[in-house]
Amino acid sequence: MSLLNFYDFNVLGDSRGALVSIEAERSIPFEIRRVYYIFGTQKGVARGFHAHKELQQVAVCLAGSCKFLMDDGKHKEETVLDSNSQGLLIDVMQWHEMYDFSEDCILMVLASDHYDESDYIRSYDEFLREIK
Ligand code: TYD
Repeated sequence: MSLLNFYDFNVLGDSRGALVSIEAERSIPFEIRRVYYIFGTQKGVARGFHAHKELQQVAVCLAGSCKFLMDDGKHKEETVLDSNSQGLLIDVMQWHEMYDFSEDCILMVLASDHYDESDYIRSYDEFLREIK
């Protein structure tokens, strides 16, 4: 089973430009309780390096591009996010790392719950122990 699960959003376009609508529990599988976005990322910076015990998220690159590494403790898969009409699922217990951000990258993340530090696994060794 691939670690890269994408959602393709409809682009509603007309002569004025484009519009994408993302509906909770329709376009993506969960209710959205939080939205955050990452921008102005400095060259060479990598982020993430954690997994979540219960949180589900979908990442959408609204502008520019970045790379994602997904890791379930057994396999790793890498992808480029560069489409503002495609979401990448960050599922529970998926170790993820983001890097190679373009200067103009705006990465929006839709999350199934409020911010909760106790839901994070930030140690890769602990992640491997939990996976077993
Ligand atoms: P961090 O988890 O380091 O981001 P990333 O994993 O993407 O590199 O988050 C950076 C800081 O922002 C950290 O102090 C936690 C805080 N934060 C919130 O307060 N709310 C949030 O929704 C998120 C994602 C982070």
